[in-house]
Amino acid sequence: MTAVTTPWRERARRLAGELADEGVLRSPEWRDAIETVPRHVFVPRFHTQRPDGRWSETGTGSPEWLDQVYRNQPLITALASTPRGNQVTVSSSTKPGLMIRMLEALRIEDTHRVLEIGTGTGYNAGLLAHRLGDDQVCSVDIAADLVAAARTRLHELDLHPTLTVAHGGAGLPDEAPFDRIIATCSVSAIPSSWVEQVRDGGLILADLKRTVHAGNLVLLTRHGDRLEGRFLPRWAGFMAMRESDEAPPDLSVDVTVEVGDRSTTGLPPHPWDSLIPWLLAHSRLPSRLTFGYRGTGAHRWAVFTANDGSWCAVAVNSSGGRREVRQYGDVRIWDEFEKAHEQWQNLDEPGWDRFGLTVAADGSHRIWLDDPGGTRSWPLAPTRQ
Ligand SMILES: C[S@@+](CC[C@H](N)C(=O)[O-])C[C@H]1O[C@@H](n2cnc3c(N)ncnc32)[C@H](O)[C@@H]1O
Repeated sequence: MTAVTTPWRERARRLAGELADEGVLRSPEWRDAIETVPRHVFVPRFHTQRPDGRWSETGTGSPEWLDQVYRNQPLITALASTPRGNQVTVSSSTKPGLMIRMLEALRIEDTHRVLEIGTGTGYNAGLLAHRLGDDQVCSVDIAADLVAAARTRLHELDLHPTLTVAHGGAGLPDEAPFDRIIATCSVSAIPSSWVEQVRDGGLILADLKRTVHAGNLVLLTRHGDRLEGRFLPRWAGFMAMRESDEAPPDLSVDVTVEVGDRSTTGLPPHPWDSLIPWLLAHSRLPSRLTFGYRGTGAHRWAVFTANDGSWCAVAVNSSGGRREVRQYGDVRIWDEFEKAHEQWQNLDEPGWDRFGLTVAADGSHRIWLDDPGGTRSWPLAPTRQ
């Protein structure tokens, strides 16, 4: 076992205490896991983005490393370069409070077999294997180097869950069925393989995100060939599932703000200010929108693009409470968002705790308010998954 010294144990106990005080950590089993499995073994270094956009690395040699590792914060652990040379994050150690919130929500019992999608550093697989034993935990990641590093760290701690390099969208058929599936990367639709590989009555906890932050963690129960459940009350976001172990492509849609149709809006331009309306808007929007910024200063635009070439740009700065909007192409992205926002306001702005999701046997996804059989529901446009 790696240097198991008093300083990290005290820090791990303090972290567990903070999570318990917050009401996130409730069960003695997960408290024991947080206090016993050393996060620092899984995060020998992490990356921080500086205000000028560049990244710096903090590692074992740095005086603040151990303190940072035992804070309740996510830590970025892997970067990759896009074709245009931008550095993007491809793996991280999830915020411990979020990890525990998910493990508690899954109501895991000692006999359960669990599949994790997104091994990353291996820390969460370590928490699971400590609690359940090696034979009951499987974890997959698309990145071979991450899986190899996670395996080495787990073995140092005498933990031996089944780790596999695989596209998590296919699950892990050879090890199915599972009592629980937990995904630590987001998906735009729940893959049918997960429905097949969780036992009837079993639970799937995943981050369902259409684009631009539109979505949240959802806890689904398998009922025969369909899934149903509610979104968790607090919003959280994971990095998106990748199709291969490469950096995601750069934005490719050509946006010339001057050619778009003009209007104005009173709504905020950033998707994270209106998460639920953006999700509801996806019943009429293509599944894959991208979001980014163009321009600087007074000419800075928040830009949403669809893969058919349609886009909208919303001025970041407002004048008299209104912002300029430009829209281009067949998909009127901002108009659809405004309609969904108005509908949500007319419903008295319900929070995530009132929304749920049904995934039907044919794979179609439907968001509903309060009651799966009620009148308020929003089918999501199909995706490729
Ligand atoms: C937030 S990190 C996971 C954190 C991890 N659970 C931990 O405890 O360190 C998300 C991970 O999802 C992985 N991932 C992305 N796309 C994937 C895919 N298609 N299949 C499996 N894993 C994928 C990434 O490589 C990344 O390591």
